Amino acid sequence: MHISVIGTGYIGSVTGACLAEMGHTIVFVGRDTRKLDMIRAGRSPIFEPGLDTLLTKNGERIETTTDLVRAVEETELTFICVGTPPDKDGSSDLSQIREVSHTIGKALGTDNKYHTIITKSTVLPGTIEDVIIPILEKESLKKAGVGFGIASNPEFLKEGTAVDDFFHTDRVVIGVRDRKTAELLENLYRPLNVPIFTTTLRTSEMIKFASNAFLATKITFANEIGNFCKELGIDSYEVFEGVGLDTRINPKFFRSGIGFGGSCFPKDVNALIAHAKSSGIIPRILNAVIATNEDQPKRMVALLKKHLDPQNRTIGVLGLAFKPDTDDIRESRALPVIRMLLNEGATVKVYDPVAMAGFKKICPDLTYAASASEVLDADAVLIVTEWDEFNNLDYSGKLVIDGRRLTRARKEAAVYEGVCW
Ligand code: UDX
Repeated sequence: MHISVIGTGYIGSVTGACLAEMGHTIVFVGRDTRKLDMIRAGRSPIFEPGLDTLLTKNGERIETTTDLVRAVEETELTFICVGTPPDKDGSSDLSQIREVSHTIGKALGTDNKYHTIITKSTVLPGTIEDVIIPILEKESLKKAGVGFGIASNPEFLKEGTAVDDFFHTDRVVIGVRDRKTAELLENLYRPLNVPIFTTTLRTSEMIKFASNAFLATKITFANEIGNFCKELGIDSYEVFEGVGLDTRINPKFFRSGIGFGGSCFPKDVNALIAHAKSSGIIPRILNAVIATNEDQPKRMVALLKKHLDPQNRTIGVLGLAFKPDTDDIRESRALPVIRMLLNEGATVKVYDPVAMAGFKKICPDLTYAASASEVLDADAVLIVTEWDEFNNLDYSGKLVIDGRRLTRARKEAAVYEGVCW
C-alpha cells in the first residue's frame, strides 16, 4: 500500500521504517527538513538500534515531504504519529494533533478516493471521536466511516528494542467504527502473524493508557516491596523471581530500583490522572504510583549519605539515559539524583555512552567524563542506568550505590548498597 506517516519522531520513524520493511511504500511527512534528509539518506533521525538498516534497505520505497496535503492525496492510508507532550496540568497537549487534523481534513475534501486515517499518537480515550473526527468532518465536508475511514492503532514499542517489538509484538490493537476499516487494518497487520484485537475507538485508546499505567504500577509495586525488603535484609530480586513464577503475575517488568522514566510512563500516568479527575474519579492507585516513583531517587541519595557526606566530595554517576540502549533522557532518574547531589554540595562527574550531549544542554555544569572508568575515580559511584558496558568496569575497592542492580558492581564493590536489595 501507499502510506503517509506524519511525524518523524520516535513512533513515526519506527512505524514508517517497519511498514516499508513489510513491502509498503512510505511517505514520511514532517516539518524538520534535517530529519527528512536523514531518512532519505537511510539514516535514522533517532537513536534506535536497527532503524538505519531498515531505512537503507528499503530506501527505494521511502519518500519524504513537508507537504502534508500532497502526501494525503497521493496515498491510501495516513498514520498520525505526532507528539502529544504533557500540558501544565499533566493532560495531553493536543495542538499538533489538531493542526494535522485540520490539514488532513482539507486534503480529504479535495481527494476523490477513499482515504483512511489512523491515530498512532497516544491520545486519551475520546480524543478521536471528540476532537479528531469533528475537525476532519468540518474541513472535508465528508462523514467519518462513509467519506473516509478512521482508526486508532496505539503503539507498544519500547525504545531500544522498537524494531523487534514492532515485528514480534504481543498484540496489535485496532479501534474502529466500521467493518471496512477493521478489515483494512487487519489485512495490513496479518503478515506479522500476531494476535489482532479489534475494538471501538475509545476502548483502543484506553487500552494504551491502561497498559502503560499497569506496567508503571507493577514496577512501582516492586519498588515499594523492594524498599521494604531492603529494610528487612531480603533480596527483592529473588522475591520477584519467586512471585513471577505465578503465571497469573508473570516475571516481566518486576525489576525494582530507582524507578521508571522515559517519554511514556510518567507522561501517560499523569495524563490518565488528569483525565480521571476531570471525569470525577479519584485515581488513588495512580497518584500513589507517581508519588512513590518520585521518592525512589531520594532513597539512592539517602543510602549514599549513610556512608559519606557528599559535601565537597566528587560523586560519580554512571548512566544518564532513562534506560540503556537509548539516548533519551526524558524523565530520566539521573536528573533528580544529580540535582540532589548538587544541593548537597557535591561535585558531580557523569558518564553515559550516548546521552551526554543531550544532558549537557539541560545540565551544563557537571564534569562530563570521557569514559566510564574515569567516573570510578570519584569518592562514590551511583549507578543510574544499567548499560552493558558498565559491567566491564572494575569496581573493587569502590563505594557503589546501585539503582539498577549491575552484576559486576554487586560482586566486586568494597561497599555496595542496592536501592531495593
Ligand atoms: C514504554 C512501554 O514499555 C511501551 O510499551 C510503550 O509503548 C512506551 O513506553 P519505554 O518507555 O521505551 O516503553 O521503556 P520501558 O522499557 O518500558 O521502560 C520504562 C522505564 O521503566 C525505564 O526507566 C526503565 O528503567 C523502567 N523499568 C522497566 C523498571 O524500573 N523496571 C522494570 O522492570 C522495567
